[in-house]
Amino acid sequence: MGKYIIAGNWKMNKLPSETYDFVKEVASATADASCEVVCCTPFVCLPEAVRAAEGTHVKIGAENLHFEDKGAFTGEVSADMLLDLGVSYVIIGHSERREYFAETDETVNLKIKKALSKGLLPIVCCGETLSQREAGITVDFITIQIKKAFAGISAADAEKVTVAYEPIWAIGTGKTATAEQAEEVCAAIRGVLTELYSEETAEKITVQYGGSMNASNAAELLSKKNIDGGLIGGASLKSADFAAICSAAK
Ligand code: 13P
Repeated sequence: MGKYIIAGNWKMNKLPSETYDFVKEVASATADASCEVVCCTPFVCLPEAVRAAEGTHVKIGAENLHFEDKGAFTGEVSADMLLDLGVSYVIIGHSERREYFAETDETVNLKIKKALSKGLLPIVCCGETLSQREAGITVDFITIQIKKAFAGISAADAEKVTVAYEPIWAIGTGKTATAEQAEEVCAAIRGVLTELYSEETAEKITVQYGGSMNASNAAELLSKKNIDGGLIGGASLKSADFAAICSAAK
């Protein structure tokens, strides 16, 4: 299966002035980790995050980007700007951006293509609402999200994408999907990727779980065949908790 990647999504937390020391803490706490360790930070924290990660195993990611190269897009940040800072990863299509900032499957697809064309590694989020789960349409809904996200992307490029399955009802709620629920959807995602590309390509793509993943439940979730990592919100803000999740990823 894909390479294990544990990525923190700081969301709108931590100040630029707190970033350098915190990333250094993460680097030393995860020094023994065998997975890829990524901190995705607010735009304004990125310069300090990159500076702190220099010469360590920690990679830095952004939480969003714009799909155009440059121009009159007040308040937006381009792929070239992120690359210029030394950023490696970028989260695309988080449910909070879809809900509060009107991101659609179409803009998500454009952003993935832009990131890939520039050499940034996308972490693409998908996930169902509670009412979709209760209606029994989770896998159908995720299948559509994945097909639209990967539209027009070659197999060679698809291998560079990480997919994060984040059930919306589990984000920030303390309510984690059971390892069985998470595995069922991550296996379905792998199935869609197999259908779109090939088994070989699908197996190279990292599929993460996200949603109230923490130091206590990470090992069970990460033991599942189709779960190759985690996208961590709340627990990524404490270096010891984040490091414990990284050690569970073997
Ligand atoms: P929590 O880990 O806080 O539930 O957030 C998950 C998430 O949204 C990561 O992108």
